[in-house]
Amino acid sequence: MRIYREKDYEAMSRRAAAVIAGEIIHNPACVLGLATGSTPEGAYRYLVDWYKQGFINFRHVLSVNLDEYVGLSPDHDQSYRYFMQSNLFDHVDIVPENTRVPDGLTADTDAECARYDAYILSLGYASLQLLGIGRNGHIGFNEPGDCFVKQTHVVDLTESTIDANARFFPTWDDVPKQAISMGMGAIMGAKKILLCASGEEKADAIYNSVCGPITPGCPGSILQLHPNVVLVADEAALSKLIAAGVKV
Ligand code: PGA
Repeated sequence: MRIYREKDYEAMSRRAAAVIAGEIIHNPACVLGLATGSTPEGAYRYLVDWYKQGFINFRHVLSVNLDEYVGLSPDHDQSYRYFMQSNLFDHVDIVPENTRVPDGLTADTDAECARYDAYILSLGYASLQLLGIGRNGHIGFNEPGDCFVKQTHVVDLTESTIDANARFFPTWDDVPKQAISMGMGAIMGAKKILLCASGEEKADAIYNSVCGPITPGCPGSILQLHPNVVLVADEAALSKLIAAGVKV
């Protein structure tokens, strides 16, 4: 695992964007596995900026997103489709049909999950999978549990995740309680993984993912089994690793 130690959120964002831009320049028709949340927002801002300056383009890029809330429409301002449109897709030249986010409004979630996996498989998996990490170590919406789930699946969100999301909804009851998430098969199938983290509240999750036992109790720990992971994190998120004497 290559670890980039960055000063703060802004530096982390710029470094993460540089890794993604490098992928696009290296392979203009790459498949980007994309993530939502506050962690990648800054990186998307840099990518939009570099697109506008003419350094990169998304003309031949395909994208598959990690997850989507069950029950939210694409134009709901808390849906992950809406997030992707407003933070990246609407500002660059990616072909709309080449962007995929699980359909949160599907009447048949099992069929949607199977379709999503078949599509990712048909692309030969992501060239680069971007990941944030939850305070509890979740990646995508693969929550801590008794086993790693391979397929795209419907997840019952944990109370800690619902609590973390509650700030974006009028009341706790409005927060979606389920999501469709890529499973570990699609994530681990990516040729390269870019894990990003910022802030003290991610320090335990990062420490456990990098140094802890490989266990579904900390979903991010599965990344220790991937041969090509780049971790881009700020000093606060790396603080437990640094305190433990890990060279970063
Ligand atoms: P965040 O979420 O980027 O909003 O912190 C990350 C995650 O929960 O995966």
